Amino acid sequence: MKENKKQKKYLIRTYGCQMNEHDSEKISWILENMNYIETENIEEADFIIYNTCLVRENAEVKVYGNLGALKQLKRKKPNLMIAVCGCMMQREEVRNVITTKHKHVDIIFGTHNIHKLPQLINNHLQTGETIVDIIEDSREIVENIDSNRKYSYKAFVNIMYGCNNFCTYCIVPYTRGREISRKPENIIREIKELAESGCKEVTLLGQNVNSYGKTLEEDYDFVDLLKDINIVEGIERIRFMTSHPKDLSDKLIEAYGSLDKLCEHLHLPVQSGSNRVLKEMNRNYTKEDYLKIINKLKKVAPNIAITTDIIVGFPGETEEDFNDTLDLVKEVKFDSAFTFLYSIREGTKAANMGNQIDDKVKHNRFQRLSDTLNSISLEINQKLIGDTLEVLVEEVSKNNPDVLTGRTRTSKIVHFKGDESLIGTIVNVKIENVKTFTLEGSLV
Ligand code: SAH
Ligand code: SF4
Ligand code: F3S
Repeated sequence: MKENKKQKKYLIRTYGCQMNEHDSEKISWILENMNYIETENIEEADFIIYNTCLVRENAEVKVYGNLGALKQLKRKKPNLMIAVCGCMMQREEVRNVITTKHKHVDIIFGTHNIHKLPQLINNHLQTGETIVDIIEDSREIVENIDSNRKYSYKAFVNIMYGCNNFCTYCIVPYTRGREISRKPENIIREIKELAESGCKEVTLLGQNVNSYGKTLEEDYDFVDLLKDINIVEGIERIRFMTSHPKDLSDKLIEAYGSLDKLCEHLHLPVQSGSNRVLKEMNRNYTKEDYLKIINKLKKVAPNIAITTDIIVGFPGETEEDFNDTLDLVKEVKFDSAFTFLYSIREGTKAANMGNQIDDKVKHNRFQRLSDTLNSISLEINQKLIGDTLEVLVEEVSKNNPDVLTGRTRTSKIVHFKGDESLIGTIVNVKIENVKTFTLEGSLV
């Protein structure tokens, strides 16, 4: 879009997961339709939106800190409009803090009413009041919002919203509402349009994609959807986030052997290796169930990369429980993992459990877990030296303008020398050097 002096500028800051990142792409689309243009410079923004996350305390603290800093900016520039949205806003106690302590915020909306943003902006501009608009939960999916996507060659696509699992530590079911699946025809239509505009890789988004289809009238599940996407011309790679071990079917495991576009990577959060802790977390699987899935997967797709999420210091976690997690990590040999210190989330069941773990103990376990995971990641990557891997070229390296970065089908980051014109294409790279989190090689 061409810049015009009268056009207002917006800046969105996104916290949290891919779900929020994709919501921000929708907000951006809505605003550009209202003739706003994007800026990355906070000083020149006319409208600042914070899309917030509540999953751990540190996410929340960051938002409050950054919001506080906007007070000064608004004083200098009274016409500046500020909105906060996303998961934090679904909690009444958070909204109360914002409306009492952060009065410079003009618009508060949540995760179910992004489509109402134009109306909320108008209401604010007409009345000058702080507008608070929250839908507690929604049984409707709004289909007429498009996304202003960050990349042309890869895209997030929502396939479902919400979560019904209520893991005892997790706030997400309270911020995203109950599970609801998007109709397959709408998903496929979106993916076909993406393919026509040059997109090669789709990442299907949902809190628990394995239970996709349960709210549909027809008998159609996640693997049926994968099969239908696999035949969309132009799409070369299919990924998805996130899977839950309790719902991962043999049908999905078999799909890794038959669907050529399904990338050989599975992110399968395990959270803990202790059956006692898993039960307290309400995860509904055991360490043995998890290992069984991994073994089956490795038979169907021997090169599959497995990544995971692990929480350290869940209430009551003993040294023995933690050692079970270390054992599981060594047995599965994860390619990589996101590790988190357990964070109390008010409103969840685990927040009221006794035996909260001392911070020092948590940090010590966290370090031991990270050391174990890192040495395994490096060991796995070392075996790739000499292999030629298919890489989707993503961007010019931030540290070196001569170097490109891309991702393998197994979702590993690769650095190699090449021309910018290769961005968005799929190339072959011979791996020559590896680190814990990245690979290096040359184009072949
Ligand atoms: N729906 C996804 C992702 C949920 S949030 C899933 O079930 O996998 C992403 C990760 O954050 C979770 O997998 C979990 O490891 C972590 N997490 C959630 N709540 C947490 C808490 N209270 N403290 C620490 N980590 C948490
Ligand atoms: Fe949270 Fe569990 Fe739902 Fe994931 S499956 S979003 S961890 S409640
Ligand atoms: Fe995602 Fe954070 Fe919400 S992890 S679903 S943005 S609470």
